[in-house]
Amino acid sequence: MPRRSPQITVMINAAIKCARGLQRDFGEVENLQVSKKGPADFVSAADIKAERVLHAELARARPDYGFLLEESGVIAGSDSESRWIVDPLDGTTNFLHGIPHFAISIGLERAGRMVAGVIYDPLRNELFWAEDGIGAFLNDHRLRVSAREELGEAVIGTGMPFKGRESHPEYCDQLERIMGRVAGIRRMGSAALDLAYVAAGRYDGFWEYGLSPWDIAAGMILVTEAGGLINEIGGGRDLLASGDVIATNSHLHEPIGRLIENRGR
Ligand code: 2AM
Ligand code: CA
Repeated sequence: MPRRSPQITVMINAAIKCARGLQRDFGEVENLQVSKKGPADFVSAADIKAERVLHAELARARPDYGFLLEESGVIAGSDSESRWIVDPLDGTTNFLHGIPHFAISIGLERAGRMVAGVIYDPLRNELFWAEDGIGAFLNDHRLRVSAREELGEAVIGTGMPFKGRESHPEYCDQLERIMGRVAGIRRMGSAALDLAYVAAGRYDGFWEYGLSPWDIAAGMILVTEAGGLINEIGGGRDLLASGDVIATNSHLHEPIGRLIENRGR
């Protein structure tokens, strides 16, 4: 059993506490599908409630740290080096539609680097966590990215540009180039879990454009501590800001990157 530091314990406890409410509310969402109004208002209330729980728990344990929260935005802390980057409900569309695939994501950034991350899928009781220099884990098992080297055997996760984005034709071109070369593509609707699945060796790679910092902060350290590579598509240096993500095992970064960017075969 890996030793959990006080810092990761704080994060895990906050995620578990928050998950209880989300699980209860998810049960209710199924009943609301048939109502005329649908569950949208109920779900945005659940989301805000979940964020409040995380904020309260994390602030109680580390009163000095700042926050970047999906719903509430930036909250400055007296410790200007350390901040929590939090998504209380990643996979909101799934949650809203009663699809059982969503997670809580908590990242800890220190001096501009991710140092710890927790991604919790409460319905499967899968707790993905990682700490700088210690490793990545699923519950108590150490995680490694996959060892697959052949594109033709690879299963690749992705997310599609949603309503309001302009990049649909470019994305379709990428998808066409990639789907002809790999064993399968998955589009499951929670970027945090997608990155956790790369860390766990379930996916051999993942790419998506325009994600928000809270979608990817915890996943960044999970992937790197599991021995994978996570970078900005196109080679830029500020992944959290651009949200253009490519994450892979160590073998497939180059071939998948080449296909995404259409740099020839
Ligand atoms: P969310 O569920 O927290 O919004 C899926 O492609 C990823 O993109 C998810 O991590 C999801 O995070 C995010 N996402 C999906 N639809 C979105 C939208 N309309 N606005 C912002 N983020 C979205
Ligand atoms: Ca999200």
